[in-house]
This record gives sequence, C-alpha cells and structure tokens, in this order.
Amino acid sequence: MDKRLDALIGKLAAERALSPEEYAELIETRTPEAASRLAELAVAERRRWYGDKVFTRGLIEISNFCRNDCYYCGIRRSNRAADRYRLTPEDILACCAEGYALGFRTFVLQGGEDGYYSDDVLCPLIGTMKERWPDCAVTLSLGERSRASYRRLFDAGADRYLLRHETADRSHYAALHPKELSWENRMDCLTALREIGYQVGCGFMVGSPGQTAAHLARDLTFIADFQPEMCGIGPFLPQKDTPFGQEPPGSGELTCFLLSVIRLIAPKVLLPATTALGTLDPLGREKGLLAGANVVMPNLSPVSVRRKYALYDNKICTGEESAQCRGCLDSRVKSVGYVLVNERGDAKGFPLGGSCHAKRD
Ligand code: 5AD
Ligand code: FES
Repeated sequence: MDKRLDALIGKLAAERALSPEEYAELIETRTPEAASRLAELAVAERRRWYGDKVFTRGLIEISNFCRNDCYYCGIRRSNRAADRYRLTPEDILACCAEGYALGFRTFVLQGGEDGYYSDDVLCPLIGTMKERWPDCAVTLSLGERSRASYRRLFDAGADRYLLRHETADRSHYAALHPKELSWENRMDCLTALREIGYQVGCGFMVGSPGQTAAHLARDLTFIADFQPEMCGIGPFLPQKDTPFGQEPPGSGELTCFLLSVIRLIAPKVLLPATTALGTLDPLGREKGLLAGANVVMPNLSPVSVRRKYALYDNKICTGEESAQCRGCLDSRVKSVGYVLVNERGDAKGFPLGGSCHAKRD
C-alpha cells in the first residue's frame, strides 16, 4: 500500500484519532486497499468488544408530521405531497407487543418534530412500555426539544436518544437547513442529552449536497471528542419533492470507509448498518457490517404507514411485515458470519448505576 496511507492508518489505529487535515487526506487519497485494511482493523476492534454479535432495534416511525423544513428531508413541512400520519400511543404499544414476540429488546420511537407528542403524551407511553416490557430499552429519536423535556422523558424511563448532528460544520449546517434551525442549538441538545444521562447517538449523512472532505474531517473530529454511545451514518439519498431532489446520492463505498474509521476512533460505539445504505445498494447493510457496523434497525411500523415515512425515495422494507423484515435481516447478518441477538445491546458501561436513574427505582 502507498506508504503515506499506510502511515495514516497506522496512526489512526494506534492513537484513535488524526488531525482534521489527516482525516481529509485519508478520505481524499483512499484506495480499495486502504479500505480493506481499515475494515480489517475495524472488524477486529468490534470483535474485541462485542464478539460476533449484531444487535437489533425495532424501529417504530411514530409520525411524519414535522415542524421543520430541512432541505434534504422528504417529511419537511413544505412538502405538500407527503401523506401525513401519526400513530396513537395504542398503535405504538401494539407495534411493541409484536416486536417483543419477535425478539426485539430495544424499541426506537422515531418521528418528525410533531407537536402532538408533548411530554404529557410521551411520558405515560414510555412508562407503559417500561412496565409491560421491563427488559427492553426505549430509544427516542424525536428531534430537538428543551432540556426540561429531555429530562422528563428520561425520568419517565427513556434510556437512549438519537439526534444526528447532521454536520459538524456551522456553515455547511446552514446550507442544509433553513435559518430558523441553528447548529448551536443542535449541539446544545446533544450536550444536554449527555448530561442528563442518556446513551446518546449522533451522526450525519455521507454525500449531502456541498459536503467536502474537510467537512467530513470535522465530523470525525467531533465524534472523536464527543465519543457518542451510538452513531448513525448513511448516504444522502434525494427525495424528489425536496429542494435537493435533483442532487446525486452519496457514495456507499465512502459510507463503509467512514464506518471503519468511526469504529477505530470510537471502538465501543454502537454503529448501525442503516436502511439508507441498504436502499442505495442491495447488499449495503452486509457491506456495512463487514466494515465495522454492529447494529441493524428493522422496521416495526404498521405496514399501512411505512411508505409514508419517506425521508428519501425508493426506501426499502416498506412492503414487508415486521416478521419478514426481522427474518430477512437475520439471514443477511448470518450471510456475513455474524449472529443477530435478542438483547438490549447497551453501550459498554450502561445502564449507569445510582443517582442518574434514582427517580425510577
Ligand atoms: N437521505 C438520507 N438520509 C436522510 N435523513 C433525512 N433525510 C435524508 C435523506 N434525504 C436522515 C437525517 C436524519 C435521519 C432521521 O435521517 O440524517 O437525522
Ligand atoms: Fe423534519 Fe428535518 S424535516 S427534522
């Protein structure tokens, strides 16, 4: 391999971080050979912490109403073509019951920023989930809320929160979002979630419009500093009714390369092989696992609404029943030599003991 690339990879593996300039160089000069070397190191690292286990999360898309207007997202409020729906707490509990029977031990409630889901609606729902399925983790992915709200939801029993930072570069953030959304607030939300005691997930899209290697270097630097418990990355995929509808999709190859880099800078991170990666490439999720990912997130939403939760075009898994989705992933995981397990799959060191969860005991 090229000597310089070899040296960068060696440094990354030994020091768990590079400078922003070095990350950018690694990305810009990468070769297939460098990608396989990184994947090999990443897989060894994952095996060290998690063995051959791949964790699974039952994803329930609770609403596609959204008050925001992100330029890339198909459920943005200006998209008149979106057919809006919202699940009731009863609908959500029915999805969980089905998921539990299928072996899921983590439920992810994901949705647009829909004002209907106030704390007064969510807290009793989370309470009921924890009461009925005490051996399950509850993950929320409901966007930006106040610190007080994050605290109430945590006290109600939520364990984890996913909030992709989208880009660690302020001006790139401004190119992807309307001006009412601020990068500072996004980052403040991540800090608040961490301080409250959640297992926190950040993440970004690969190949979003205007993204450069320097931007990705900032994302990697942020991840190395923040050390998230979870990190969601997937290719940007255009959705035809958005301002970015004619932009080219991100690269699956670069996504996998970055999955390996992230595994090396945050070795214990729970890293999904995302649906977006599987949409871009029919074998995308398998390739993601082989690059260092260790989580898959099959869909548990009612089949009647799946097509409507269209952040991007051609999303996979919108016709399958939950059981089919689970079975499909089970065999995909096996095909690359790993085992899909029915466990909560917490980050190492979680759940925290003592005071943080005192109110729940
Ligand atoms: N392509 C890929 N990912 C997208 N997301 C939103 N829109 C798109 C798109 N067009 C991602 C964002 C968001 C997550 C829920 O989905 O990163 O945080
Ligand atoms: Fe809903 Fe971006 S359009 S958060």
